[in-house]
Amino acid sequence: MQVVESVSIVPTAAVLGAEVRGVDLGNLDDETFRRIDEALSRYGMVFFRKQDITVDQQIAFARRFGDAAPNVNQQACLPGYPEVLVVSNVKENGRLIGVSDAGITWHTDQSAYPRPPRCSVLYAKEVPVADDGTVLGDTIFSSAAAAYDALAADIKARLEGKRASHDYMGRLLAREKSVGLTRTIPADHAAKMPPVWHPVFRTHPVTGRKSIYVTEGECTAIEGIPEDEALALIAQLHQLAVEPRFHYRHRWQRGDVIVWDNCTCQHLAVRDYGEDQRRLMYRVSVDGAVPF
Ligand code: SIN
Repeated sequence: MQVVESVSIVPTAAVLGAEVRGVDLGNLDDETFRRIDEALSRYGMVFFRKQDITVDQQIAFARRFGDAAPNVNQQACLPGYPEVLVVSNVKENGRLIGVSDAGITWHTDQSAYPRPPRCSVLYAKEVPVADDGTVLGDTIFSSAAAAYDALAADIKARLEGKRASHDYMGRLLAREKSVGLTRTIPADHAAKMPPVWHPVFRTHPVTGRKSIYVTEGECTAIEGIPEDEALALIAQLHQLAVEPRFHYRHRWQRGDVIVWDNCTCQHLAVRDYGEDQRRLMYRVSVDGAVPF
């Protein structure tokens, strides 16, 4: 007897996110992918449990959403796979095998680039567990679309059509301030990574839904608004965008795959585990268009 997979898309109880059940990401037909793609636009993030896929299968899955260019941080990529960023606290021969501090402040991926990734595909290879069995290292997603909906009408009207600058240097400084982590910044960094300007309210290319697209620290100005006022507005927008009422918190299991939409949600990797509690994830980011 032939067993036909039945796919179901089950929204979380939160304002974003859905679990896609009944899918083997290593063996995906076009119609199932179409439903996953549609769910991603609709729910902002989708997740899959119990996946057992190879690196090539993860890349192939990510590439169904669009091209996946080599990651900008080649030193932290999986050897032989320039598009696979290793997100991990694991050390081999005394050296970290990937990025150990990825995403530990609220952000949306690579917004300081002219074309931030459309979405990212993160695969859990190892998940940290405390001595009492508690799983650590959750990732929290916040719906910047629901936050936009909740924003006061006068602020929406004031900022409609305006752009904010995104400065990668600002992100590093914000991280230093909030979690005390410093990273050596290369001397030529500011010249290589000039701030880029993106709309304060970003429109989703498929659904047309608007989202707040600013992050405190990383965003340093809003065009046409004096600096003090702009920074206060950025802080206000950011705080709204990450309010707990807009969250879905993912407790990882080994074999989980999450895809998140960088237009409609922000995310935060909770750094509540120690050096000896191994966390190993592979991330592939899918190229995106210029935000509008
Ligand atoms: C990231 O922001 O890309 C990392 C998220 C995570 O490790 O949970």
